[in-house]
Parts: sequence; C-alpha cells; structure tokens
Amino acid sequence: MSAPIVITEKNGDRYFRLKRLTADAPVGAFRCAVPEYAAYLREEALRTQTDHVAVTWLLREETDGEIGAYMSLIADAVKLSNAEKELHKLHYPFKTIPALKIAKLAVAETFRQKYRGLGTYMIFQAGIVAYDNINPCCAARFLTVDADIEHDAGVLAFYQKNGFVPNIEFSGKRRKTISMRLDLYR
Ligand SMILES: CC(C)(COP(=O)(O)OP(=O)(O)OC[C@H]1O[C@@H](n2cnc3c(N)ncnc32)[C@H](O)[C@@H]1OP(=O)(O)O)[C@@H](O)C(=O)NCCC(=O)NCCS
Repeated sequence: MSAPIVITEKNGDRYFRLKRLTADAPVGAFRCAVPEYAAYLREEALRTQTDHVAVTWLLREETDGEIGAYMSLIADAVKLSNAEKELHKLHYPFKTIPALKIAKLAVAETFRQKYRGLGTYMIFQAGIVAYDNINPCCAARFLTVDADIEHDAGVLAFYQKNGFVPNIEFSGKRRKTISMRLDLYR
C-alpha cells in the first residue's frame, strides 16, 4: 500500500475543494471515528444551516466529490482574564473578545489510509473563512473550539499541535470538553 498523501495549506487545493453544505448535494455515507459526528452531518447540519444556527463546510475530493472532512462554524465570543488579554496584547477594559467557533469538525474514516493532515487543513480553512469572509465585515480575533475530550482525550493534543491554548475561564475538572482559542493575528 502506498504512503498517505500529506495534505497541507500548500497542496490542499490540488486534491480538495471546500464547499458549503447545500440541500441538493447529498452528504453520502460519511463515517468518522465518533458516530455522533457523522449522524450530525446526515441528520442535523442542514436544519441548523437553514435556521442560521451553524454553517457547515464540506471538504470534497477533487476527483469524485467524496467528503474527506467537514466542519460547522458559528459566531462566538471568548472571555479572557487580564493575563490572557496581556498574552495577546489586547489592552481593553472589557473581557469579551469576538471569535469564530469550530462547533463541529470531523475527518472521514475512509480517507485515513489515503491522506494525512485533513484535520489540520480544516483549521487552516476555518482561518481563511475568518480572514476572507468575516473580518472584512465583522471582527473575529480568535478561532475557538470546545475540544471534545469525552469521546477522545487525544483531541486536546490535536488542537494544541495546531496552536490552540485552553481558556482559563472555562477550564475545570471533570469537563467533557475543553474550551480553547487560537489567535488569528499573532
Ligand atoms: C480530531 C480529528 C479531526 C483530527 O483529524 P486528523 O486529520 O486525524 O488530524 P491531523 O492529521 O491533521 O493531525 C495533526 C496532528 O495531531 C495529531 N492528532 C490528530 N488526532 C489526534 C488524536 N485523536 N489524538 C492524538 N493526536 C492526534 C496527529 O498525530 C498529528 O500529529 P503530528 O503533526 O505530530 O503528526 C479526527 O481524528 C476526527 O475526525 N476525530 C473524530 C471527531 C472528533 O473528535 N472531532 C473533534 C471534535 S472537537
């Protein structure tokens, strides 16, 4: 078996296209490591989009349009302590800073042998959405995520490798998720 192709921000558009979820293009038999995330895509994503609660983006393979990964994005705001604000050189009297949240992110099981780096590439694409589509009209300083450690404790390492740090305000013991942020401008 040949080695997987490593997808990066440099070569990603040779293999994949990011497309907004639409009612007329079926999501097919998307399967991932956490069945709830596949069920969300099949059963909930379109409704949340129609209701303006989340917008879902599909990473479709260039060759046959198969879905390699998806993410759902929503508007967010994160509360930072004074020390956290200092870290980002945000010298403002208020705590709450606007953000774009990755509410869902999943990579297809069927693509694991063929590609590496799809999760990281989706985070890169979320940044592009912020830079190109949101920030010209309405500010979002951070990418945020609630890292779902209930299903897989390893996702914390995945987000840390991608530059995310835990938010103090929301950290605590016995949590099912860890609230994290990535500064898009530093
Ligand atoms: C989490 C997920 C999106 C990661 O996608 P991916 O394509 O495997 O991630 P990448 O290949 O970009 O990985 C980047 C790095 O993170 C590491 N990593 C990825 N997933 C990891 C995990 N579950 N545990 C530990 N490390 C992980 C990789 O080993 C890689 O490390 P390296 O750069 O040192 O080689 C994917 O595993 C997935 O769909 N999981 C099921 C759904 C889920 O849990 N989503 C997250 C909800 S918050």
